[in-house]
Amino acid sequence: MRKKIVAGNWKMHKNASQTKELLNELLTQIPAETAAQVIVAPTFVNLASAVENLTHSNIAVAAQNLHQAESGAFTGEISADMIKSVGVKNVILGHSERRSIFHETDALIASKVDTALKHDLTVIFCFGEELKDRQSGNHFNIVENQLKDGLFHIQAKDWEKVVLAYEPVWAIGTGETASPDQAQEMHEFIRETVRKAFGSDIAEDLTILYGGSVKPDNAKEIFSKPDVDGGLIGGAALNAKDFITIVTSI
Ligand code: G3H
Repeated sequence: MRKKIVAGNWKMHKNASQTKELLNELLTQIPAETAAQVIVAPTFVNLASAVENLTHSNIAVAAQNLHQAESGAFTGEISADMIKSVGVKNVILGHSERRSIFHETDALIASKVDTALKHDLTVIFCFGEELKDRQSGNHFNIVENQLKDGLFHIQAKDWEKVVLAYEPVWAIGTGETASPDQAQEMHEFIRETVRKAFGSDIAEDLTILYGGSVKPDNAKEIFSKPDVDGGLIGGAALNAKDFITIVTSI
């Protein structure tokens, strides 16, 4: 059964007290029953307190990254086991900022996917084309290759631990959103690509989120599209009122 999800990626925002404050606002203001599963992804240092604060709520927590190795001399890195050990069950991988600023390749992301799945973490797998790819009409190829190279090595049984997040890079943090029709067109293509490789059951059950300048005033229309199963929200997830409006737009 396909799940609706709205996830907030807090990126490198919110210190410990700001994290607590935003979580408290969400806890007191999000309706007890929402159509979408709500996930928040604070920074690593605030994951443990977020899990603790959200224990008796319906809000889940995600990490924003992990290192592919089990442990070792990797100064500054965080392992899957460490993430699991504080009660986190989800991890965002392949975000465009990791790809572009930190030079993460499809091969590296594929190995992070393996590590996450081995530790039974649900992977929110991000991918999407750059502006030049869309302008040259190459966006479907780029998206298909990112998907195949980063993810299609997994086994059929692993898909229940995978959520896709299509995020056109030109729409991230720019205020420019893909139109609802552009999002639907790409999400349909993505579902079809998964269907061809893994079959209809997996493709139909797969949650595909849209990310890129989703705001309170455009969420409803984007989420109304049949292959858009929710969103991965950046900037608008930093404000409780905006995020809750987006969550309740499904
Ligand atoms: O992970 C979230 C995306 O990068 C979207 O960010 O909503 O600020 O455009 P944005």
